[in-house]
Amino acid sequence: MTLARAGLERGLALVHSDVGAFSRAMLPEHALRQYQLPAARAIAESVDKGLARELAVAFSRQSGKDEMLAQLCAFLLSRYRFQGGNVVVGLPALRPQGIIARDRLVERLQMPLTRHQTRLREGTIVEVGRASVRFLSASRNANSRGNTADLLLVANEAQDIEPDVWDAVFAPMAASGNATTVFLGTVWSGTTLLARQMHLLSELERSDGVQRVFRVPWREVATELPVYGNYVRRQIGLLGEQHPFIKTGGAGRRGWFVPSRASRVGAGDISTVGPAGWVQRCLCAGD
Ligand SMILES: Nc1ncnc2c1ncn2[C@@H]1O[C@H](COP(=O)(O)OP(=O)(O)OP(=O)(O)O)[C@@H](O)[C@H]1O
Ligand SMILES: [Mg+2]
Repeated sequence: MTLARAGLERGLALVHSDVGAFSRAMLPEHALRQYQLPAARAIAESVDKGLARELAVAFSRQSGKDEMLAQLCAFLLSRYRFQGGNVVVGLPALRPQGIIARDRLVERLQMPLTRHQTRLREGTIVEVGRASVRFLSASRNANSRGNTADLLLVANEAQDIEPDVWDAVFAPMAASGNATTVFLGTVWSGTTLLARQMHLLSELERSDGVQRVFRVPWREVATELPVYGNYVRRQIGLLGEQHPFIKTGGAGRRGWFVPSRASRVGAGDISTVGPAGWVQRCLCAGD
């Protein structure tokens, strides 16, 4: 092996050993932020070691959940392109969410490392070598049964996926391949699939001390991205401190809020109240 080839292989092994290093080296313009890294690393570790963990990731609105998922998928596709492996991403609907997610993944794969091996199949399967990511609708009317995930199974926008559909159609996809399962989204009610899993996984965390729930409230995003904090604070200004959301610490549908403790989303609905319009959909209390 030539010296140059040996150096290249060492470099590749390095970027494939850590999703953060991969992101910094391969996607410097979108390098994962500090608050995105712990969840991305925990998922990658569970896939890599075949731990088949279930994890939940709840970030504030517009803080980069889909960006993290796209980069994690790009990392896994690159890492497993010779060995092979499947990722399945279930979403409330293929259009527009699945197509937007697919396009973002394809765009992130335009790096030199993966560009020439990236293929799109049947409109919703992205392949790099022998590894693939398949986007599937988790709507009640979609026929998504019969797929298998052996690396990773993702419930994206899990707050909008009906729990019984997930349990019957998607959850079994991870069983035979020992895949890791991730529930990703924004908390807006205590009765969603995301809230249910956060509650269950928080209990598991308490019993064995392994972090499985990754919450990023808006204030944490704001410390790294001041413009984001300014935007949310402006919404707090519009909403007013006397608004029921502020006073009760409840969560608005599509809110900014991420509860800091699972018990706050464990049971019962956190009602959506307040005036119509965008402000209604914000919540800026709590964390
Ligand atoms: N690490 C990053 N580097 C650069 N841009 C980023 C990063 N993370 C997120 N972004 C950008 O921030 C914007 C919002 O990201 P994204 O769509 O992933 O957020 P989200 O949490 O999924 O939003 P929503 O709550 O609406 O579902 C996008 O334009 C995305 O490219
Ligand atoms: Mg999103």
